[in-house]
Amino acid sequence: MSTAVTSADDVIHDVSRAPPPMAMLAELTHRCPLACPYCSNPVELTRANEELSTEEWIGVFEQAADLGVLHLHLSGGEPAARRDLVELTKAAISFGLYTNLITSGVGLTEERINSLADAGLDHVQLSIQGVSPESADRIGGYKGGYERKMAVAGWVTNAGIPLTLNAVCHRQNMGEIDAMIELAIRLKARRIEVATVQFHGWAERNKGALMPTREQVERATCTVTEARKKYEGILVIDYVPADYYSKYPKACMGGWGRVGLNVTPSGRVLPCHAAETIPGLSFENIRDGSLSEIWYESDAFNAYRGEDWMPELCRSCERKKVDFGGCRCQAMALAGNASATDPVCIRSPLRDRLTRETDELSATPTATLTYRGR
Ligand code: SF4
Ligand code: FES
Repeated sequence: MSTAVTSADDVIHDVSRAPPPMAMLAELTHRCPLACPYCSNPVELTRANEELSTEEWIGVFEQAADLGVLHLHLSGGEPAARRDLVELTKAAISFGLYTNLITSGVGLTEERINSLADAGLDHVQLSIQGVSPESADRIGGYKGGYERKMAVAGWVTNAGIPLTLNAVCHRQNMGEIDAMIELAIRLKARRIEVATVQFHGWAERNKGALMPTREQVERATCTVTEARKKYEGILVIDYVPADYYSKYPKACMGGWGRVGLNVTPSGRVLPCHAAETIPGLSFENIRDGSLSEIWYESDAFNAYRGEDWMPELCRSCERKKVDFGGCRCQAMALAGNASATDPVCIRSPLRDRLTRETDELSATPTATLTYRGR
């Protein structure tokens, strides 16, 4: 049955094609002191003078809450690079949003964390690149980063804010997963997310250095399974396995335009962080239209909603309501067609080629990392 809602600007939207979004990722800035070789931000970064102002971001948060968003992820780049971070957090909370700060830790002081706690910040997600200063600082391309992260974790938990550690895993640190889990326990985190690198954005340039081997991936799965048993009730371990070694693709973003949206530092509203890699889609800016109109009406959000866009392979498949046909940006990158079945899928005609290429890449690794430019 079709239902309709009245948006803040009195436009009647047909919501039968999409429920309201549950989560919004606000990329407050692309500025970041780290230079991670797997950075998922676009290759062309937004400059500081193009970023939304404090008032503009607060307006976006208010619209998001009106639209039905429950979870707001304050991200970047490094969100601490915004001097108005505490003010923005306070405003988001006043609209009833659950706030999660996704940070590298660099740029946060104890005083700032206490101010964020006083503002009511609900949760911190702290990235780690490795379990020692040597490995972490080498991968993050920032000397002193590891020590700062350890201090930040202590300040966050002392301030009573729940902490999640966020570890991107790849060929160069996959052997450290058990030590990362131990580190999460020592830092009093409640949760750790171990996510295998995705080859979007800058990571694509480092595929040769970051692609894990099949053996590493199998060991990582065993490590996580054992650790989940060992730390049951103490630490929640989320694990995103390596796409290229999986049988089926992930339900990227929980399905295109289904549960979440991203707003870039300059206000472009995207269905996912890599959507701009799909040629032919144009993305509207929050400076020119309401969030509600963009979510319900824009061509970009409607492009891969539902099942009409799917190739026959997906449309006739029983998993289409599980993975929604996989990742559109991955289909674009690997198949050259954003409407194709995600080539990771075992049923895709491109899967055998992807397996061969993955095995070749992991058998002849590149040693050097190309760091993200700042
Ligand atoms: Fe998912 Fe499509 Fe593969 Fe089915 S054919 S498992 S819907 S990607
Ligand atoms: Fe864009 Fe998966 S990253 S749909």
